Amino acid sequence: MNPKAHEPDSLPVPEPIALAQSEALAATLRAEIAAAGGWLPFDRYMERALYAPGLGYYGGGARKFGLFADDGSDFVTAPELSPLFAATLARAVGEALAASGTHRLMEFGAGTGRLAAGLMLALDAAGVAFDSYAIVDLSGELRERQRKTIVQLAPALLSRVTWLDALPAQFEGVVIGNEVLDAMPVRLFSRKDAVWHERGVSANAEGAFVFSDQPANSGRDANWPESALAGVEGSEDYVTETHEAALAFTRTVCAMLQRGAAFFIDYGFPRHEYYHAQRAQGTLMCHYRHRAHGNPFLYPGLQDITAHVEFTGIAEAGVEAGADLLGYTTQARFLMNAGITDVLSEIDPHDAQRFLPAANAVQKLVSESEMGELFKVIAFSRGIDETIAAFARGDRSHTL
Ligand SMILES: C[S@@+](CC[C@H](N)C(=O)[O-])C[C@H]1O[C@@H](n2cnc3c(N)ncnc32)[C@H](O)[C@@H]1O
Repeated sequence: MNPKAHEPDSLPVPEPIALAQSEALAATLRAEIAAAGGWLPFDRYMERALYAPGLGYYGGGARKFGLFADDGSDFVTAPELSPLFAATLARAVGEALAASGTHRLMEFGAGTGRLAAGLMLALDAAGVAFDSYAIVDLSGELRERQRKTIVQLAPALLSRVTWLDALPAQFEGVVIGNEVLDAMPVRLFSRKDAVWHERGVSANAEGAFVFSDQPANSGRDANWPESALAGVEGSEDYVTETHEAALAFTRTVCAMLQRGAAFFIDYGFPRHEYYHAQRAQGTLMCHYRHRAHGNPFLYPGLQDITAHVEFTGIAEAGVEAGADLLGYTTQARFLMNAGITDVLSEIDPHDAQRFLPAANAVQKLVSESEMGELFKVIAFSRGIDETIAAFARGDRSHTL
């Protein structure tokens, strides 16, 4: 999920039925803004735009994941790009299951279900015993797609899959979340003339959504993220995000994890890089039909809205909740350590039809200029004494 930035004006126009759905969501947002006195914090706008039941991007019926704009999709993720991603991640997951003596899996935000199917197939083929694969997703529509994918790709394993409506208080096993943290609502902040403001959303006289900044001493001051914003050097104009929802999620998952490991894969940086003076525009990004742009008010509910992950905060949140930091490294290093080239070598190189696309996908997953460096893997553990092979070389925990 990392296409080049485009001007919103050049994006394809949605079908009338999709536009009507977007307008229905916009009407509820306008009403909420009015009821709140004319200003809504950005995280609330983002939460509704992505997760409003039936109307939000994940809450509604948008196609979302796929390889091409022509199929109506908006972005591609690693499990969609190639089954080799799941097959390689399965090696690390299998090692964590063995090291912790646990037999259960739990995936957050399982998308189309391809990662679930691929992980289960690879674990099963490797003789790794697991009793259950629980999926937690905020999107009801995606649950149905996940079930169909698993029926199609791994029918014999469907009986081990369950969909959870609520998290258990305790879990022993391995947790996985690919590109989940980046899909959580963020608050926006802007520094103007050396003064920090919270950036929220208002509606103008025509009803269009516009950014609107409130100074520090109004609104939600009790929750003002002092430490993150104080870390931004200089006094130039600057826009950035804070990630309360992702931090709360990490705390919850790590408190739930009594034994085992949790792997989160996503794009982002450690805090010192995230809040670097030069990252003055922040990382908020929207995806529509495989084009990236920066306008979150375009077609609410029809486009994805994301922000990069601030991994130092995620590491702190997990450790605060009682987990150990198992490792933090780039996706490239993680996949190479876990043996993605061995997984690739299982495909006959003379079978060009299978081998070439697979080799091409591996290149995308590990290349520095594609997903290899920007995407990171962070993992927490409980009850695992030694590190696992996927973090054995090139661990970057010290950079957090
Ligand atoms: C960008 S998609 C990634 C999907 C899939 N993991 C993949 O890599 O193709 C983000 C997913 O995270 C889910 N999600 C976001 N917040 C969540 C939460 N708190 N609990 C469970 N799922 C969540 C969304 O519903 C969506 O399915």
